[in-house]
Order: sequence, then structure tokens, then C-alpha cells
Amino acid sequence: MNIVLLGAPGAGKGTQAAFMVEKYGLAHVSTGDLLRAAVAAGTPLGVEAKGFMDAGELVPDALVIGLIKERLQQPDAAKGVIFDGFPRNTTQAVTLSAEFDAMGLKIDAALAIIVEPEVIIERLSARRTCRICGYIGSVVDEVCPKCDGEMYQRDDDMPDTIRNRLEVYEQSTAPVIEYYSGAGVLVEINGDQHPDAVFALIQEALDS
Ligand code: AP5
Ligand code: MG
Repeated sequence: MNIVLLGAPGAGKGTQAAFMVEKYGLAHVSTGDLLRAAVAAGTPLGVEAKGFMDAGELVPDALVIGLIKERLQQPDAAKGVIFDGFPRNTTQAVTLSAEFDAMGLKIDAALAIIVEPEVIIERLSARRTCRICGYIGSVVDEVCPKCDGEMYQRDDDMPDTIRNRLEVYEQSTAPVIEYYSGAGVLVEINGDQHPDAVFALIQEALDS
């Protein structure tokens, strides 16, 4: 099974992907996580990507598509993939379809997690992430509840950058929802409720 998770920044893609990895045993492919790892490692790609990410702009397609192609070569991708934060514009969506066609694979479902912008600004300002295991929590988690690791605030979770990320989402990423609707695989999920309730809807969509 191959799933695309769509939704604005802060909609809960990473949170739901963690639940889905546990239940369905799929590989989690988050371009945001891959890019942040490249930035932290100081690779040439990371150095190039950092400025775009800190500004809340999309990293150029060629860099992101290169990362995805490399990630799909890893053995765990054969179990099926949850794409989180990719595709982020129609060029990336068309490229993924072409790549999957060539590999004889298909996207089984595109889940769009819908949350209103006011809720998102609150969530992102409060988000904290574990430096060790990647657990996504909030400002109430002084240390990671899973591994006791240090919780940090992402560089792009600052008010001006959050606003720009939302604008970029509306302009570039929202059309990807139409793309998957046209392909007949779109399911809209109400993301403005407890994470467990959101996950219940996702399971309903995937298990039916
Ligand atoms: P990326 O890392 O993909 O960030 P994003 O899309 O902005 O999404 P977030 O990770 O901020 O939110 P999320 O939906 O995962 O929410 P989360 O579960 O954490 O991208 C970062 C940057 O990298 C981009 O701006 C761009 O520069 C670059 N990039 C990445 N992919 C790219 C691509 N394909 N092309 C070009 N550039 C790319 O939840 C958020 C918070 O809410 C948490 O605190 C969580 O605990 C809380 N929460 C979650 N669910 C709920 C709920 N149901 N109720 C209450 N709180 C909740
Ligand atoms: Mg995320």
C-alpha cells in the first residue's frame, strides 16, 4: 500500500504518519525530515536547502525529487510508503506518478487532513520535536515522553515563517488535492479533533 498524506503545515501529517507506521508497517518518507537531516549534517544539499526552509519557501523541485528517488531505492520502501510533505506542487505530483508508473506501482490513497489556518498557527507556535527520536509533541513536553530526549523548536516555526508557509501551501500545494481528486484516490479527513479520532478516520478510509 502506498499513501500520500496531504494537508497544510501543522495539519498533523507527521503525527498521523507515526500512527500509520505502527499499524501498517509502511516506510515513512517525509521530505521535511530528509531535508532537516541534510541541513543538520551540513551536506551540500542541506546547505542549499536551508535558506528556502528558513524562509518558509519550497526547496527547488530538482533537489527534492533527487532525495525522493534516492529514498525509494532503500529496501524498506518495498513494504509500501507513506509520503509526508511530498508531493508539494503539481510538478512533483506528476513526477511521482511517472516514477511510480515506471516501477509498476500506484498510489492507493491520498489523505488530505483538513484544519483551519487559525488552529494551525496555534499548533505550530507550540510544537516541540524530539532531537533524538523525532517524537512530535508540544511546549508542555519538557523532555520527550518516549525517550527522554531534548525537545527543540523547529527554525521554521516562527510567526512570520508560519504565515509564509501557509501562503505557499495555498498557492502551490492546495492544487495537489485537486490532482488526486482527479485521479479518484482522494479522501478528505477532518483534522480538527483529537489525534486518535483523526487516526480512526484514516483507518476507516484505508481498511474499507
Ligand atoms: P515539512 O517538514 O513537510 O513541514 P510542513 O508541511 O510545513 O508540515 P509540518 O511538519 O509543519 O506539519 P505536520 O502536518 O507534519 O504537523 P505535525 O504532525 O508536526 O516541510 C518543512 C519545509 O521543508 C518546507 O517549508 C519546505 O521548505 C521544505 N520542504 C519539505 N518538503 C518539500 C517538498 N516536497 N518540496 C519542496 N520543499 C519541501 O503537528 C503539528 C503540531 O500540532 C504538533 O505540535 C502536534 O503535536 C500537534 N497536533 C497534531 N495533530 C493534532 C491534533 N489532531 N490536535 C491537536 N494538536 C495536534
Ligand atoms: Mg511534519
